[in-house]
Amino acid sequence: MKIRILDQAPARVHAPLVAVAVPRGNGDLSPGALALDAALGGAFSRARAAGDFDGRDEASLLFYAPSAGEAPDQDGAPQGGEGRELRRFLFLGIGDAEKIDRSAVRSFAARAVRRAESLRLTELHLVVPRLHRSDKAQGGEGGEGNPAGDPDLAALQAATEGLILAAWDFRELRSSPTGASSTPPPPLVSRGALALDLAPDEAGPDDDAQARSVRLGQALAQGENFARTLQQRPANVATPEHLAGVALQLAEDHEFEVTILGPREMERENMGALLAVAAGSEQEPRLIVLEHRGGEDKDPPLVLVGKGLTFDTGGISIKPALGMEDMKFDMSGGAAVLGAMKAIGMLGLPLNVVGVVPASENLINGRATKPGDVIRTRAGKTVEVINTDAEGRLILADALHYAVERFSPRAMVDCATLTGACVIALGHHASALMGTDEGVIQALREAGDRSGERCWPLPLWAAYRKQLESPVADLKNVGGRPAGSITAGLFLREFVGDTPWAHLDIAGTAYGEPVEPWQRKGGFGVPTRVLLEWVLSHTT
Ligand code: BES
Ligand code: ZN
Ligand code: ZN
Repeated sequence: MKIRILDQAPARVHAPLVAVAVPRGNGDLSPGALALDAALGGAFSRARAAGDFDGRDEASLLFYAPSAGEAPDQDGAPQGGEGRELRRFLFLGIGDAEKIDRSAVRSFAARAVRRAESLRLTELHLVVPRLHRSDKAQGGEGGEGNPAGDPDLAALQAATEGLILAAWDFRELRSSPTGASSTPPPPLVSRGALALDLAPDEAGPDDDAQARSVRLGQALAQGENFARTLQQRPANVATPEHLAGVALQLAEDHEFEVTILGPREMERENMGALLAVAAGSEQEPRLIVLEHRGGEDKDPPLVLVGKGLTFDTGGISIKPALGMEDMKFDMSGGAAVLGAMKAIGMLGLPLNVVGVVPASENLINGRATKPGDVIRTRAGKTVEVINTDAEGRLILADALHYAVERFSPRAMVDCATLTGACVIALGHHASALMGTDEGVIQALREAGDRSGERCWPLPLWAAYRKQLESPVADLKNVGGRPAGSITAGLFLREFVGDTPWAHLDIAGTAYGEPVEPWQRKGGFGVPTRVLLEWVLSHTT
């Protein structure tokens, strides 16, 4: 999507849809809303006074404005006449004024896009609401790669994200624009313009800083959309080999170093756990490694690891048929890591970041791993495979251990659709967060808050570790039903040594029915922007 920053008065903007936010209650209108209301001869404020618009975040009112040529103040406005476009002013409720944060702005932008879609418009202009000042957390991390230390810049970044995330759709597998349905899908919004909701005489942040914030928002959202596209591809398209091809292309586009291991290299690396999961499939596994070298050679990298299980049948411990198609999303962690690497490449961040994606299917054939089998991980620890459906932790065990040995990471974060128990614990509104390092955990929580992709901690207490004890091997791959997400986390911890590490269980947040206005049914790209905000927090 093309995005421009405009410093034109909102009522004079020449766009088919201009959206402005109005908080709850009857307080003063923002400068932008005031200007649009004036151009409408006060129609909006009359509607609000009559109680037709209460400013809650589902409220919306659309007005057809006098064309720019007919506007009360014609100074500088486009001339009227033939072909003059219809102008619409959209007032969107944004909830309580004291609660206007990045998430509220992202949602506002996304709701404007959805309205544009329903009107079959491909272009819109946003009057970007300013964040509520009382909240110190609003600005977020400063730093070179992340200019959003100023709340106005954070608002611009969030609005850009909302626009680009909402405008994404997955259409590459439809044979015709109409598909099977009789109503063709609306054209996607492809052009956006933004301006902060400032008073006419107010300066706001300088132009360069504003442009940087928009670029940052673009990179984050495009990285996340890239992950969504990969998630949406079915398992017969997005095989491990396909993901490796995607990584090779990213390496070419962004000058990453790339390593792809196949089954023979994995044998040499003693990756018995990854190979045990891949054993039941005709599709060969891949271990994908992308290295962005933006820092000094000697600087240890931040390492991002994502579960790239391209289809999870459960293996011999087979899953029920109902809903099994969703197990194409079991590569969501890997997709997020690839999406984050893409954004890191686009931004050219000045630090070293490595992305690692173990990619495999979990299928069933005569060579498939069986319940009770004991396998040997790369780390040398043996594992009794009680349940072949607990395969994510196995492929991650070898990937984490490989990353630790090869890169001695400054810090490492993995993300994985790891346990159904996580969905029971936190539902669809937060990823579970656990790890060995309080600093990494806290930084991820903050990154989660800034991105709106919330992360909530679970404890990795030693008391739970007993559940993983096996009578025949060093570990079992399952710890029983109690605290299923925690025992999965404890399993991973066995393979990270002393590395400051945290794990995100994204089983409930990576895909599903939309819970935010920018989402559509399917892959959400979560936690791409969490990973990116976390990486950006190291660029100060
Ligand atoms: N990919 C699943 C976890 C999952 C479940 C993700 C539901 C998204 C939605 C994982 O490989 C798995 O099957 N885990 C098992 C572990 C159990 C056997 C200990 C689970 O959660 O049931
Ligand atoms: Zn599984
Ligand atoms: Zn799985």
